[in-house]
Amino acid sequence: MNIQACIFDLDGVIVDTAKYHYRAWRKLANSLGFDFTETDNEQLKGVSRMESLDIILNIGKKTLDESKKQTLANQKNDWYLEYITMMTPNEILPGIVSFLDELKTQNMRIALGSASKNAVLTLEKVKLLDRFEIIIDGTKTTRSKPDPQVFLMGAADLGIAPKNCIVFEDATKGIEAAREAGMYAIGVGASNFTQAHAVIPSFEKINFDGIKALLKGTMI
Ligand code: G6P
Ligand code: MG
Repeated sequence: MNIQACIFDLDGVIVDTAKYHYRAWRKLANSLGFDFTETDNEQLKGVSRMESLDIILNIGKKTLDESKKQTLANQKNDWYLEYITMMTPNEILPGIVSFLDELKTQNMRIALGSASKNAVLTLEKVKLLDRFEIIIDGTKTTRSKPDPQVFLMGAADLGIAPKNCIVFEDATKGIEAAREAGMYAIGVGASNFTQAHAVIPSFEKINFDGIKALLKGTMI
């Protein structure tokens, strides 16, 4: 094992924006006359905006044309932006800042791999934009997780081989994407990450040596 880079998902790993995505989608579902539960929301983590909308419309058994779908996606994003624009560094998830500090002191390369088109804005709001050498987000990708594209682009831009990268993800689709990319995959949070190499509840009580210890003996 020769880890040279860490690639982080954004929503649910760096910041707790998963709850804002959920609130905005639920508001949209309710406006269309049906409800959308937190369990349903698990399917949306890591999934692009338009694919998320398709999943929601499927739950509500609605069929709409493309232009109506675009209007709804824009509406959801407007509601989401109301939350995001209010964000401050207080909403960075526990342990992230010190973990990023530690990676820097160890000369690890650091990238972001997110499906969100709001990634740069979010990082600006929480004042972490300068911590990421490479940002691959929904404005650059053409395929959603579990496709490995987002992480492979990150590794390529860093100039690091996939087998020397660790991905941190809170979505099972993101873990699948990391595995498919040929990278180490760490599940962050409480989901049932059957495919992850290791799982951590958060970054609060673990440092980089602890992560490497968890990965020791695992195979890509
Ligand atoms: C992340 C989130 C998803 C979200 C997607 C697109 O992957 O986990 O819930 O749908 O980004 O976000 P956007 O900000 O572009 O709508
Ligand atoms: Mg996520």
